[in-house]
Amino acid sequence: MANEFADNKNIMILDHPLIQHKITRLRDKNTGTAEFRKLVNEIAMLMGYEALRDLELTDIDVETPIEKCKSPVIAGRKQAIIPILRAGLGMTDGILALLPTAKVGHIGMYRDEETHIPHSYYCKLPDPISERSIIVTDPMLATGGSAVDAIRFIKDRGGRKIKFMCIIAAPEGLRTLAEAHPDVNIYVGHLDRELNENAYICPGLGDAGDRIFGTK
Ligand code: PRP
Ligand code: URA
Repeated sequence: MANEFADNKNIMILDHPLIQHKITRLRDKNTGTAEFRKLVNEIAMLMGYEALRDLELTDIDVETPIEKCKSPVIAGRKQAIIPILRAGLGMTDGILALLPTAKVGHIGMYRDEETHIPHSYYCKLPDPISERSIIVTDPMLATGGSAVDAIRFIKDRGGRKIKFMCIIAAPEGLRTLAEAHPDVNIYVGHLDRELNENAYICPGLGDAGDRIFGTK
């Protein structure tokens, strides 16, 4: 079904059946921590397959058992994965499975429970970050505040070629992020209906950090 973001070329809402199936398992309140964690990584890997479609290739010489030929390998730009703590960490291994040589930075953010305003508490990025293609991960894009601020931190430190990957987005957060950072490609596993009065995504999956790390 068409949505308000259909014409925005920077937003990719992935509708692959495997991703949708796994998101349904994530939503289920009876899905336990171990399965939840596994699913988040699997979804990140499937999303990464799409988000990395533009990786540059270069031909190298290779000798098969039959003959010598030229064949492509991943070229050029160095990669960085930057999870937004805590929940973004749950997606890191899935993308590292595709990009084992990527460097990993970390940005710590938490939302104030009353105001829903994000606060940052940690930032450590590969240095220099300006040379790298960056994937920022966070399973949940709710108001968009955490993602907007995290990407601003990265840009302030020189980061330029940035993609953002989330498993579930609310329309409110997707709108906010796309407006704040129109140069960032955004990959979404599923676009949900809306935020509730506590700025939780509906139907959503609850608190992603608590479900990944078993803290509630
Ligand atoms: C969650 C989630 C995002 C943020 C999304 O993190 O992982 O970072 O909320 O909300 P927003 O779009 O309204 O900013 P949370 O603040 O709960 O921290 P946690 O990952 O440490 O649990
Ligand atoms: N953060 C989460 O983990 N879940 C939501 O629904 C909103 C913000």
